[in-house]
Amino acid sequence: MKKMIIKEKDTKFDILPILKERYSPRIFADTPMSELELRTLFEAGRWAPSSYNRQPWRIVWGIKGSETYNRILECLSDFNKSWATNAPALLLNAFKKTTDEGEENFHALHDLGLFMGNVTAQAQHLGIALHQMAGVNYEKAKVEFKFPEEFHIATAVAVGYYGGNKKDLPEDLRDQEDPLNRTRMMQREFTFNGDYMNEPALESSKNGLDTSKEQIMKKINR
Ligand SMILES: Cc1cc2nc3c(=O)[nH]c(=O)nc-3n(C[C@H](O)[C@H](O)[C@H](O)COP(=O)(O)O)c2cc1C
Repeated sequence: MKKMIIKEKDTKFDILPILKERYSPRIFADTPMSELELRTLFEAGRWAPSSYNRQPWRIVWGIKGSETYNRILECLSDFNKSWATNAPALLLNAFKKTTDEGEENFHALHDLGLFMGNVTAQAQHLGIALHQMAGVNYEKAKVEFKFPEEFHIATAVAVGYYGGNKKDLPEDLRDQEDPLNRTRMMQREFTFNGDYMNEPALESSKNGLDTSKEQIMKKINR
């Protein structure tokens, strides 16, 4: 059965414009990012909820032209390096895996996600785009930035104002810059008013990806 694809323009429920309009670009306007702008984003993250208020998030940040920016860039996968140089700022996101008592903090990654959710909403409000990246050499980044054993590097983020020119991208990435190409699962695939149920007719949204996007997804960790 053909997968049903929901595009941004088809949003059925009345959600906040900042959520509807957000997307993850790989090109950015020339406008530089200042420390003040980044600190505004981190302040939004700072007020995120976290399990036991443990605030396990740790963020390394660098502005283009600085040594820290170049050090973060060097920790990215080759695929992400191919476009992330367009970003005026880069972040590296880590979380503390343990509680102060040395137990595993099972919810730490969840809390870092909430932190980045706040950062994303604040950024969108300011017209700033984020592109999260899993394609990071975690071990290298942990050593490079001198994180102790009880931390884990989760992601990197490219940050900058929306804008830029598709010509700054490798050719195979240019088509992906159209936010209307974005797809999502149907709500009935991931919400259950009762027991979990696998909807066989609706497979994961990956099946709704066009071929070029599918190819890109395979490259993310290279
Ligand atoms: C945790 C996380 C890791 C991601 N890793 C990468 C990555 O390494 N490289 C990349 O180009 N995009 C990456 N993305 C971007 C996703 O592919 C993108 O968010 C998704 O396709 C939905 O598109 P949208 O954000 O424009 O709505 C990542 C996103 C998240 C949230």
